[in-house]
Amino acid sequence: MDTSVAHPISAIDPFSHAFLEDPYPHHESLREAGPVVWLEHYGIWAMARHHEVRDALTDWQTYCSGAGVGLSDFRKEPPWRPPSIILEADPPLHTRTRAVLTRIMSPAAINALRATFEREAEALVCRLVARREFDGVADLAEAFPLKVFPDAVGISEQGRENLLPYGSNSFGPRNDLFDKAMANAGPVRDWIMSKCSRAALAPDGLGMQIFEAVDAGELTEAEAGMLVRSFLSAGIDTTVYGIGNALYCLARYPEQWTILRENPSLIRLAFEEVLRFEAPVQTFFRTTTKDVDVAGVKLGEGEKVLLFLAAANRDPRRWERADTFDVRRRATGHMTFGTGIHGCVGQAVARLESEALFGALAKRVAKFEMTGEPTRRLNNTLRGLDTLPLRVVTV
Ligand code: HEM
Repeated sequence: MDTSVAHPISAIDPFSHAFLEDPYPHHESLREAGPVVWLEHYGIWAMARHHEVRDALTDWQTYCSGAGVGLSDFRKEPPWRPPSIILEADPPLHTRTRAVLTRIMSPAAINALRATFEREAEALVCRLVARREFDGVADLAEAFPLKVFPDAVGISEQGRENLLPYGSNSFGPRNDLFDKAMANAGPVRDWIMSKCSRAALAPDGLGMQIFEAVDAGELTEAEAGMLVRSFLSAGIDTTVYGIGNALYCLARYPEQWTILRENPSLIRLAFEEVLRFEAPVQTFFRTTTKDVDVAGVKLGEGEKVLLFLAAANRDPRRWERADTFDVRRRATGHMTFGTGIHGCVGQAVARLESEALFGALAKRVAKFEMTGEPTRRLNNTLRGLDTLPLRVVTV
């Protein structure tokens, strides 16, 4: 006897401009529709509640990444680039590659970056504060990660702007945003791959440490290049959007910036709250490896499941005053870095960047004022701004 319960169906297109402009009302309707919802537009499942998103992310045996973490199923259509051997891989391959990156990103390794990140943050913030007015995105949210992260990996300065548009739109459907990103993908991909070889990397950076794992017999030379590529595609635009979103929140809610300035020890917590409230990474997909029952609804094998990290972050079942930005909140447990075996391997770098930057700002900026309307940069997976015109009132 079939005991499965009827599943809710939604006509929402989560990759339409209207959805991406303002996803929050749609998140709410998906959460309230049920623990798992059928999105008829794409013929996929969606989960928007914290409990189900977290459970799916931690159950890699049932919800795999090897068929791609975007809409496209790699087992049915060829991926646009060779799949990542970490993000788009399952154990045992994932276990081997992840072990190398986890080691390279050890707490001691991250600590070794701190002094340089803080020095660069001080220098950049001093220059911008002296100008009084600047664009929070181009001049700060892009400029800082584009300087410190490729420096840490060991990439040469020239051509770094190629790192900005890479990759993330490709997790969505083949819509206009995907086409726009792909229009220039060939040269960008070639530039990136040319920077990922042993010969191109600085001898003392994180990239070269990945190649040292080849010498230790843990990876092949080609795999090491692929992992450097994964670092570069996952480690730039995510932090650009994260820092941009943080500036936007602190300019929008000046009383929250005042709280931070008065208690700089809250800076770390405040960045977690930004990630919860305005998640720079909104969604990732999984593919079911077998039939599975979710709260009485039967999902078949080989089905795509869209996990709304950002909707889980505002699930009132998990968070009090979920739609309120509060830098004093304990926001740990948000889904913006994912969780489980694929949980973001670079999260300590992202945190270090934000701590260095907002620490430097807190010493000098009493208030951020928006001098014009910020504009959005729509993206199938990421949420963030294109421009954020700011004036700073100094301390
Ligand atoms: C605010 C900034 C960032 C956010 C929001 C973010 C978010 C995420 C998320 C949600 C995942 C999990 C994907 C999944 O489960 O399928 C992930 C994985 C990953 N992230 Fe990040 N990330 C950030 C910064 C970084 C940085 C700075 C690096 C590099 C140093 C990085 C490297 C990676 C890599 C290599 C993976 C794949 C891990 C795996 O599959 O085991 N990320 N990130």
